[in-house]
Amino acid sequence: MSKRIKIFDTTLRDGEQSPGCSMNLKEKIQMAKQLERMKVDIIEAGFAISSPGDFKSVRAVAETVKESIVASLARTTKDDIDRAWEAVSVAARPRIHTFIATSPIHMEYKLRLMPDQVEEQAVAMVKHAKGYCSDIEFSAEDATRSDPAFLARVFNGVIKAGATTINIPDTVGYTVPDEFYEFLIKVRELCPALDNVDISVHCHNDLGLGVANSLAAIKAGATQVETTINGIGERAGNAAMEELVMALRTRKDIFRAETNIVTTEIMRASKLLTTITGVKVQPNKAIVGENAFAHEAGIHQHGVLNNKETYEIMTPESIGLTKNSMVLGKHSGKHALRSKAQELGIDLSEEALERAFERFKIIADKKKQIYDGDIEALLSKEALQVPKTYQMKSFVINSGNSITSTAVIEAIKDDKVIEKVSRGDGPIDAAFRAIGKIVGKQMRLEDYQLHSVTEGMDALGDALVKISSNGKSYAGRGLSTDVIEASIHAYINAVNKMICEESKTNGV
Ligand code: KIV
Ligand code: ZN
Repeated sequence: MSKRIKIFDTTLRDGEQSPGCSMNLKEKIQMAKQLERMKVDIIEAGFAISSPGDFKSVRAVAETVKESIVASLARTTKDDIDRAWEAVSVAARPRIHTFIATSPIHMEYKLRLMPDQVEEQAVAMVKHAKGYCSDIEFSAEDATRSDPAFLARVFNGVIKAGATTINIPDTVGYTVPDEFYEFLIKVRELCPALDNVDISVHCHNDLGLGVANSLAAIKAGATQVETTINGIGERAGNAAMEELVMALRTRKDIFRAETNIVTTEIMRASKLLTTITGVKVQPNKAIVGENAFAHEAGIHQHGVLNNKETYEIMTPESIGLTKNSMVLGKHSGKHALRSKAQELGIDLSEEALERAFERFKIIADKKKQIYDGDIEALLSKEALQVPKTYQMKSFVINSGNSITSTAVIEAIKDDKVIEKVSRGDGPIDAAFRAIGKIVGKQMRLEDYQLHSVTEGMDALGDALVKISSNGKSYAGRGLSTDVIEASIHAYINAVNKMICEESKTNGV
């Protein structure tokens, strides 16, 4: 019989901590909804005490999610735990996740506490958390560099105090699979009480071993694994959920373990995260990379044509990759677009649907065939839309290899038209500079990417722009059959996100 592994997703907490991956409230809610749709067991929504913004988003996720457990991280202090509870208490299934470091180096140099004090604090704070909530997870930060006997002592104490899940993180991504396996077996021997709770692991990817270590842990008895979508997270990231889940599914013969994850939602979750953060996955990334199911070499193509299993160990369909089918056309109505959004599981307000429909009609006029991928890109972009402080009205670009590019852009703000002209090093640079003049501020361009959503000469161009202002980055996305127009939309989208966020922090 196969055992059931719980998936604890920390994309919204550990993932969001990684540079360039910050998300606003609306984006976190969309991501949480997608995680719930995938049937993630536990969603770690954030670290409630870390900032008012984090508190708000943990609470909003807790209010929204109905089936998955919603957790907030908290250090082992009263203030942290009180704030975490304030944020998750509204959840249908709340969890408090409290942690303290247990390795000699962390205790001495970070906490400046003796081991006995750490143990005492951990036990006291788990008791305090238990006063609020029945579902308590305790993490021993930097567990893999901790003394197993000390860990066993701490675990015994916190289990007695009411912890229901014990997490054993490889915080710095230091361990290797065989060693981690032996380590866990040893800790289980020293602390038999672990058999009565969920044993969780949380593996960072500093040596590229996050997933391999998590799999070794499952063999050693772990019943919960902590992961992120696309493997985002502190430094080199966390174990990637899609890799772990598909490894367990594809090698059931070895692991005899399964998760509850709806694997056909994997691709959508990966793409949604990319849209939100603007951080693309590398083309050769396992499972969700652009090339993960592409067979380039003739000999491979020949084999796959004869029998898919020659080179395919899992099907593209199993992660939600389907052939692009033509779905809607120029004459399709709003109703068809609404039902497509429902089918794709994209939550849209009536206003967002209206905007998407307007864009859809413009695109349908220019593009002969509209595919599933086009609609998904359009709808998910509208679902994440922030107030449109600036809107592009028109643009004229003059460019060539023997002239300096110029851009004239007209944008609307508060019903007024603002027109600015700029030169630049190429048409995109000129256009971005003109927008900077409209906004009255030149933002730092961190990243710019252009992809086609589907195939063909009339494919939709999908532009991703990342700008930064006051140390925070904002990703914008634009779609059009004209790549310059897509880029301008993306830049303005990023600017609008920046204005929305900065107005909140300035209390406007
Ligand atoms: O890496 C880590 O140890 C963590 C803990 C807070 C679980 O993120
Ligand atoms: Zn971590």
